[in-house]
Amino acid sequence: MRTQVGIIGSGPSGLLLARLLHLQGIDTVIIESRSRDYVLGRIRAGVIEQGMADMLRQAQAGERMDREGLIHEGSNIAFDGRLERLDFPKHTNGKVVMVYGQTEITYDLMKAHIDEAGGIVHYDAPAVRVEGSDTDAPRIIYEQNGQRMELICDFVAGCDGYHGVARQSLPADKIKIFERTYPFGWLGILSDVPPVNKELIYANHERGFALCSMRSHTRSRYYVQCDTNDKVDNWTDDDFWDELRRRLPPEAADSVTTGPRLEMSITPLHSFVAEPMRSGRLFLAGDAAHIVPPTGAKGLNLAASDIYYLSRAILAYYKDRRTDLLDIYSETALSRVWKAIRFSWWYTSLLHKFDDDPMSRRLQIAELDYLVNSGAGRTALAENYVGLPYEKFE
Ligand code: FAD
Ligand code: PHB
Repeated sequence: MRTQVGIIGSGPSGLLLARLLHLQGIDTVIIESRSRDYVLGRIRAGVIEQGMADMLRQAQAGERMDREGLIHEGSNIAFDGRLERLDFPKHTNGKVVMVYGQTEITYDLMKAHIDEAGGIVHYDAPAVRVEGSDTDAPRIIYEQNGQRMELICDFVAGCDGYHGVARQSLPADKIKIFERTYPFGWLGILSDVPPVNKELIYANHERGFALCSMRSHTRSRYYVQCDTNDKVDNWTDDDFWDELRRRLPPEAADSVTTGPRLEMSITPLHSFVAEPMRSGRLFLAGDAAHIVPPTGAKGLNLAASDIYYLSRAILAYYKDRRTDLLDIYSETALSRVWKAIRFSWWYTSLLHKFDDDPMSRRLQIAELDYLVNSGAGRTALAENYVGLPYEKFE
């Protein structure tokens, strides 16, 4: 089999790339290890930046998002018994974020790319490795129905997440890994109950971090910081709701509506970057190249900005035989990635409980108090949260 761009992974980054290239007449084939239903069943991101929302519109997959997504003009930080609101447009020249689930984005992209445009995705087909990335015809080796298959491509995009094989196919001596793990995770619940507040609440509490988020006016997503080794089986629904309420200011805690879980899961917190994001004709994008702790809501948004740069670079190659944008892809994408790595690390450090040291806690409270009382502090937080600009190319 042969295609122009072979894509490993049908998460948001792989589907968005396939869709944008398809609209420009470039052929793609996606190789995905899991089933379509499994990919759709993963509950992950909820907050998207304007840059990503614009990309979904450009991919002609943004119609439902514009109808059903919730525009948020601010978010709240709870600490020391206080609840402080951060106004996004005021501090960012009018920018906002959109609350619309990753599951919905994936569904919309699948519908547009596969069901309506006839795009090819091979599900239940794990890629094993990429060969020949230093040649003009790199190959994805994968398995399907117990058979070994080969997809020959002009370019390969590794969009296969943190546990994928694309990154491992890059020459180990040319890749530099930067990594930080955090001594805690997030226990998340999804439930069909109205959100406690119309905007998100990020809470710093002496018992640990908590986050109140949502998917719609009737579906809530909540998280509490938990031990790295904790297990979902250790938590009943009531345990979760009690712990969440303990970590919120009283006025919020009193108005939490509880209900049975639709889903409960634990996410470990991790910062990770692989540099460079390219070797020859193999390009990495999204979680395959970098991971951020979810505190800043940046992971999915970084996947989108990688695809912004990569899709333009590939298009310039096919349209004008230009290779300059392919050559600067890694450097350009990483410049934005590192700023999000920094922001997510900083926001995680400010809001989570790391130890029992009262000094650490006082320092966090002092920084939060400084932040909300400073115009510069509010601007720095708001600018990063709504998303830093994409670099434009001629
Ligand atoms: P993935 O979504 O991981 O997709 C990779 C795909 O590749 C998968 O379908 C996988 O099955 C497939 N694959 C893996 N290995 C192979 C193989 N060998 N062969 C073929 N296919 C393979 N981000 C935000 O921006 N905002 C948020 O609010 C936010 N909240 C989050 C909350 C939680 C609880 C979590 C866990 C994450 C959150 N994120 C958030 C991060 C976001 O979900 C990820 O960054 C995003 O999924 C990355 O997309 P991706 O397409 O690069 O990778
Ligand atoms: C979510 O709704 O899942 C969510 C929202 C904001 C975050 C992380 C996750 O920072």
